[in-house]
Amino acid sequence: MDKLKITGGVPLRGQVRISGAKNSALAAMAASLLSSEELFLENVPMVNDILTTRRLLKELGADVEFEGRSSARLKVSRIASHEAPYELVKTMRASVLVLGPLLARTGKARVSLPGGCAIGARPIDLHIKGLEKLGATIRTEYGYVEATARRLKGANVAFDKITVGGTENLMMAAALAEGQTTLMNSALEPEITDLAELLNKMGARVTGAGTSTITIEGVEALHGASHSIIPDRIETGTFIAAGAMTDSDLELTACNPGHLTSVIAKMREAGANIEELSGNLRVRGGRSLRSTDVSTHEYPGFATDMQAQYMALMTQASGIALITENIFENRFMHASELIRMGANIRVDGSRAVVAGKSRLTGARVIASDLRASASLVLAGLVAEGETIIDRIYHLDRGYERIEDKLRSVGAQIERLK
Ligand code: UD1
Repeated sequence: MDKLKITGGVPLRGQVRISGAKNSALAAMAASLLSSEELFLENVPMVNDILTTRRLLKELGADVEFEGRSSARLKVSRIASHEAPYELVKTMRASVLVLGPLLARTGKARVSLPGGCAIGARPIDLHIKGLEKLGATIRTEYGYVEATARRLKGANVAFDKITVGGTENLMMAAALAEGQTTLMNSALEPEITDLAELLNKMGARVTGAGTSTITIEGVEALHGASHSIIPDRIETGTFIAAGAMTDSDLELTACNPGHLTSVIAKMREAGANIEELSGNLRVRGGRSLRSTDVSTHEYPGFATDMQAQYMALMTQASGIALITENIFENRFMHASELIRMGANIRVDGSRAVVAGKSRLTGARVIASDLRASASLVLAGLVAEGETIIDRIYHLDRGYERIEDKLRSVGAQIERLK
């Protein structure tokens, strides 16, 4: 299993190009199931979750070709299988995004129940409830969700809780349903707006994405389209944290600061020096940081996917910071590893208290999930001596060539095979 070795305390200088958003690309790839014509996607990050999605789509009958560094052609002339098997769903929960499209296109889908993961229980009851509203008959047995429908029918769906994946699944299903669907209490994430834009390019009639009420006028069929995926806001935020906590001068290009308003505001409040330069971001470190409380919320609030990286940042800030995790119930796995590196953190339920500034020292640590891995990389960049991060397959799921990007700006980081 690969590991990362980082020697900390090195300033970072130069430009980092931000990749396309993994979470947006996953939904876009699932949307290819809605049409028999070709989808051409650009700015797709070549990370393991994308490769897993390719495997899944191929099982379902898709032709998926990657071109160059970041483009993908997907064509699903006909659906060859209706099943997303356990082996794939267990490695990537976003596999559940094929449920809506498969059902809408063919009237049938069998998708393994994802079960929990390191960060929490993560049920899909809201996806199921929504699809039932559109007329699907759904049974869950033998560890699978089995959905059938003659043709989905538009309906009003009010989500009991805001769900990104649920909103995406329902939007895709409703695109081919008969009549109008209104989704209320929808997620507002930029990835939702990106998916709506793609669906509309395919001939769907989606309005209101980016607000809590999304309306979808169903159509008979969707056609091919070309689309460029939005920049990854979480990768951007991770590099902002890297720049702010080390003595650095980083320019982040190809990003969209407009998708990071809460994260940038919070980091500035903590004393980070962040400038917006016509769509790019410049982050300069070396300033003393102040501890600042944060609570995670749905977009446009502070993203749960930035909470672990923010905790690493707070280990380098003076004072006491209270971090409240409101989205997932068990998302502080990184805390115990940061403590092993010298951080002063107490966790109590959904709250963590970080007392800083701590002198971090390199240690052997284990990555427990994707964003936890990123927080350990950040800690490794400021720690004295050598940090070895084990189980970095989590990192490879969602960060494109992170060690190459960091090395190109001066970090001492290498992959141990
Ligand atoms: C997506 C993102 C993930 C991010 C999360 C929250 C992708 C591939 N992943 O995950 O990186 O951390 O949004 O911003 O886009 N819930 C239910 N029932 C459901 C669905 C969700 O109770 O049917 C709960 C979840 O357990 C969680 C909360 O709702 O507590 C939010 O989950 P959701 O927005 O659905 O997250 P994902 O789409 O899985």
